Amino acid sequence: QEQPASADKPADAAKPAAAAAGKVYKVGTDAAYAPFESLNEQKQIVGFTADVLNAVAEKGGFKVEFHNTPWEGIFQTLANGDRDLVASSVTITDERKQTMDFSEPYFEAKQLIAVGKGSKIAKADDLKDKKVGVQTGTTGDEVVQKMLGKTNPNIKRFESTPLALQELQNGGVDAVVADNGVVINFVNNNKAAGLSMIDDPSFAKEFYGFAVKKGNAELIAKLNDGIAKIKADGTYDKIYAKYFGA
Ligand code: ARG
Repeated sequence: QEQPASADKPADAAKPAAAAAGKVYKVGTDAAYAPFESLNEQKQIVGFTADVLNAVAEKGGFKVEFHNTPWEGIFQTLANGDRDLVASSVTITDERKQTMDFSEPYFEAKQLIAVGKGSKIAKADDLKDKKVGVQTGTTGDEVVQKMLGKTNPNIKRFESTPLALQELQNGGVDAVVADNGVVINFVNNNKAAGLSMIDDPSFAKEFYGFAVKKGNAELIAKLNDGIAKIKADGTYDKIYAKYFGA
């Protein structure tokens, strides 16, 4: 079918440059997750995730714009169209796959237990009767629910992982279960607190992916294309080394 004459659409006709530049995908990121995603002094979202996604977008031929977005409710922003993708160290899980689609994985992680100075906690099993801090709705929350029971009042939920770790440092919880990279970063940056970490063999490997609205195959294809390219040409390895060493 023919498009109506351009006189019907003066606004579009007047914006050839914007049309040529193409769509800018809105990215939702909970930027309280160093070294993966945090805010710099100019309030820009920086870190491993930003470096990886910016490189993926460049190689995949699309544009992204980051928006700091609270973790709680972050996936609803895909469903309601506020965000086109979520780049926030999101673990790919079977449950989440029912309500959103994921790119290929771009990072391997696992849960770590952080404990305070002098703690007797030595393994996951020791958490059974302890107060355990988690970030609400994360895979850390899920792992602890499995061990302690979903409604156990000893599970203390926080809106960010740093807040949970801060509470551990203050002695308000006995342990925190969260993604390894973030726990290591916090412990190393707060040496005086004397927190230590336990890597329990019962915790499974996790993989981070970029999440999009269910059915957005076009964006998944672009993301996967970019991911494959940055893995093949060494860009990914360079970014990885910048944050985590070679
Ligand atoms: N990987 C974990 C999950 O998917 C935690 C991610 C939290 N990310 C964040 N930016 N707060 O549940």
